[in-house]
Amino acid sequence: MPVISFSTPKGGVGKSTAAMLLGQALAHRGAKTFIVDTDKNHSIAGWSARGGSMPNLQIKATQDAEEVVDIIEAEREQNAFTIVDVEGIKSMLMSNVIICSDFVIMPMRETFLDAKAAKDAAKLTLSQRKVARRDIPFRLLLSQTGAIKSREQKDIIKEVRDSGLPMFKTELALRTGSFAAIFSHTDSLFSLDPKEIRGLKSAQDNAMAFADEVIAWARQVRAAEAGDNRNAA
Ligand SMILES: Nc1ncnc2c1ncn2[C@@H]1O[C@H](COP(=O)(O)OP(=O)(O)OP(=O)(O)O)[C@@H](O)[C@H]1O
Ligand SMILES: [Mg+2]
Repeated sequence: MPVISFSTPKGGVGKSTAAMLLGQALAHRGAKTFIVDTDKNHSIAGWSARGGSMPNLQIKATQDAEEVVDIIEAEREQNAFTIVDVEGIKSMLMSNVIICSDFVIMPMRETFLDAKAAKDAAKLTLSQRKVARRDIPFRLLLSQTGAIKSREQKDIIKEVRDSGLPMFKTELALRTGSFAAIFSHTDSLFSLDPKEIRGLKSAQDNAMAFADEVIAWARQVRAAEAGDNRNAA
């Protein structure tokens, strides 16, 4: 079943947050989901170690470039989705994870430097495609966005789109009360108390819209592959 990794060679773009939100949203949908946390900050594994849990979600940490391959290959058989969070530095581990991935997601804020890093991440994935001799679909994900965009932010997004890089329609908004606080609770985003968290429903809907777009993407790629195989037979 699909392996989805979050990799961009830049820190702070929102990889761990997006990986956690996707994992929780898929688990909330009822899909057996596994997150491999390879980030040295261990944000996701730290949540689990502090007692964070939810049904259908399992988490394991490693920073070993070889062990991560073994974990991914074992877990892809056992789970509906395996998600891998990668630290924001180009490394052998990042290359290994991309080669093992069925989908790569590259979060970016609406800044010049994040757009540059997202383009670098796309280049790395395109090069890993050649090594793997198969397609590794990827998409950029706008992260920590606001409802109102400045002229500069609009130009940055237009430039990325015009360069032909695929992008999710869903953006993960900047939500300090819910998304930024996701690692500090032991509840999941879907079991928090709406009386305690301002804007919880919108945050849940946002995370779910992202997960649904990932599910639709995975189905679309699977259908295209099935068509190719039929044509080749
Ligand atoms: N959508 C969001 N809304 C609010 N805060 C966010 C959001 N996404 C990320 N953050 C915050 O931004 C910071 C960086 O996010 P995160 O740790 O997810 O980035 P990262 O890409 O995984 O970084 P690294 O490469 O260092 O692992 C964190 O403090 C996180 O809480
Ligand atoms: Mg991280």
